[in-house]
Amino acid sequence: MKTLNQNEQKEKVGKVSIDTLIEKGLIFSGMKIGLGTGSTAMHAVKQVAARISDGTLKNIKAVSTSFQTTIACQELGIPVFSMNSPEIKGELDLAIDGADEIDADSNLIKGGGAALLLEKIVAYNSKVYVIITDESKAVCDLGTKFALPVEIIPEARVSITKQLEALGAKCVLREGLRKCGPVITDNGNQILDCTWQSVNGKSPINPSEMEDKINSITGVVETGFFTKNKPIIFIAKSDDSVEIRNMPCK
Ligand code: A5P
Repeated sequence: MKTLNQNEQKEKVGKVSIDTLIEKGLIFSGMKIGLGTGSTAMHAVKQVAARISDGTLKNIKAVSTSFQTTIACQELGIPVFSMNSPEIKGELDLAIDGADEIDADSNLIKGGGAALLLEKIVAYNSKVYVIITDESKAVCDLGTKFALPVEIIPEARVSITKQLEALGAKCVLREGLRKCGPVITDNGNQILDCTWQSVNGKSPINPSEMEDKINSITGVVETGFFTKNKPIIFIAKSDDSVEIRNMPCK
């Protein structure tokens, strides 16, 4: 039996998701599509470009969620627009992205690549939301293993940290790689990575409630809990299969 490593799963799910969504009529010519960030989303971006260049998709209008994805779109010939442009009018037909963790209720943690703010603007303004991952991202519950990224205004770092600690979180300011000091996001902000201690082997928090609580703290720009627009999910497995969750019936 063929077995796929993590990178092969990411490549497979990028290709299979785009082609399945075209087949099902959820990706179509003329549509407004949000394109996510990260190593898995990049395979979907490449597959959209391949379907544009083979003539399957025409007149696609993309909104990108990061500098990384904008550069890829420019190199691959995918036209990129702002959410505010007259062509997009603040609303997308579909958005597709990767995730850091997915729980059994289709709640997500995102922002491992620090692109959570634009990713959420795109996700929460899309009629259809699609998440593509390798099998390592499917977990039982959220908050105790992969740290929840919270994008913050730098001046509020200490006050926000105190309030997150009062919500039970342990917070670490994300450090840059090949840069001294903290990561600065595409929007000029900083990231606090937050974890909770498990209780009897389970996460002590409700992601949807915690998303609202954290977003009500002054100076928080956005949290990496994505719980309000339930996605269609494609999960590539090491056994070469792809599990699909939440696909709507025709
Ligand atoms: C970017 O900020 C993230 O939300 C990514 O979508 C997430 O970290 C998944 O990344 P990979 O596909 O690279 O694992």
